[in-house]
Amino acid sequence: MYQIAIMGFGTVGTGVAKVIETNQESICRRLGEPLRVKSILVRHFKDGPYRSLMTDDFQTIESDKEISVVVETIGGVDAAYTYTKRALMAGKHVVTANKQLVAEHGNELLALAKEHHVNYLFEASVGGGIPVLPPLTQRLAANRIDEIYGILNGTTNYILTKMVQEGMPFSDALAQAQALGYAEADPTADVEGHDAGRKICILADLAFGRRFDPAVVPMEGISKIDLRDIKIAEDNGWHVKLLGRCLRLGEFERTAYVAPHLIREDNPVSHVNDVFNAVVVRGNATGEVMFYGKGAGELPTASACVSDVLECLLERPARPEIDWSEDTDGFVDPKEIPGRFYFRISGSIAEAEKLFGEVLVLKDGEESALIAGPMTESTAKQAASKLSVLAQMRVLD
Ligand code: HSE
Repeated sequence: MYQIAIMGFGTVGTGVAKVIETNQESICRRLGEPLRVKSILVRHFKDGPYRSLMTDDFQTIESDKEISVVVETIGGVDAAYTYTKRALMAGKHVVTANKQLVAEHGNELLALAKEHHVNYLFEASVGGGIPVLPPLTQRLAANRIDEIYGILNGTTNYILTKMVQEGMPFSDALAQAQALGYAEADPTADVEGHDAGRKICILADLAFGRRFDPAVVPMEGISKIDLRDIKIAEDNGWHVKLLGRCLRLGEFERTAYVAPHLIREDNPVSHVNDVFNAVVVRGNATGEVMFYGKGAGELPTASACVSDVLECLLERPARPEIDWSEDTDGFVDPKEIPGRFYFRISGSIAEAEKLFGEVLVLKDGEESALIAGPMTESTAKQAASKLSVLAQMRVLD
C-alpha cells in the first residue's frame, strides 16, 4: 500500500481526500497497490469523516517512513515553504497546488527535490484541472516555445461572465465564486491579477527555462474594467478577458504580464466563460495549441494533485525536464513591446487620429472608442496624455 499525507485541509485538500476515496479502484489498478491518506495536517481540528487522520504536528508526518508523498495545499509561503523543504529533505515527494510558492521559490525547491532524489510536482498550480504542464515540458519539447497566453484565473472569468451575461453586480458574482470554492482565501489575489500573474510566471519559467520574478511582472486585474467598454467591444466583434501572457522576444529577452484584453470573437479564447480556463501555447513547429478546462474548484484542482501523486509513485526518479535557471536577466518591461491599445476618450476620433495616426473606430461621437497601434504602451500613453482618456485596455493581436 502507498500512503500519503495532506497538508492543509481547505477546498483543495478536501478534494484530494475525496478523489482518492471515490476513484480508489482505478487508482489501485494504475498503481498496482491501494493508495491511502494516512495523515492530514491541520491548524484546527474539524469534525467529519477525516477527523481521525488529522494532526497538528508536522513532525509526525516528517518522521513517518510509511508516508512517501506529501500533498501541500496550505497555500501562501510561510508554513508551506518551511514544511515543503522539510518534507523534501526527509526524502518525501511533494505535490502542490500552491502557485505563490512555486512562482517565488520553485527553482530552489526543485533543486532541493533533485538533491534528495524525489519529485516536486505542481500540475495543480496552473489551470486547475487542465493537464497543461506535461504537454508543455514533454509533448511540445520539439518546439521552441515563442508565446503562451490564456485565461488563467477561474474566479475573475466567472465574475466577468456573470456581470456581462447576467448583469450581476461585481460583489454578488465574487460572493458566488467564493461559495463555489473558486477564489483564493484573500480574493484580492484573484481580482487584482496576482494569481494569474503567478501562473504565467510558472508557465514562462518552464517554457523559457529562466526565472520570471513575480515581483517585476506587471499584473493588472479586473477591478478597473467598466461594463461600458465591454459593451462597446462586444458591439464591434470583440470580447474582454483577463489574460496572462508571456513572449519570447529574441534569444535572451522575454516578457510577461497580466492585463485585461480585447480579444476578437473569432479567437476561441474569447468564448471561454465561467470558471473555465484556456491556455494557448505557440510553438515554432506546432503553431498554436490550446488547452481548455475548469480552472478552479475542489475536484478539478484535486484531480491535478492526485495525478501528480501517481506520477511521483510511478516515475520514481525526479523528472529532469521540470526545471529552470535562477537567472532573471533578459526580462523586458512589457510597456516597451509594441501592441495595439483600446481607448475610450471624451472627444472626437479626428482629435485622436492627430495623435495616434490611423485608428480602428469602434464608436464616434462626444465620447469615442478606438483601437490604436501597433505602438509601445509608453508611446500610446504619451499620446493619450494629450487626450481626455476615460478607459484604456490592451488588445490581443
Ligand atoms: N483562485 C484560483 C482561480 C484557484 O480562481 O483560478 C485556482 O488556482
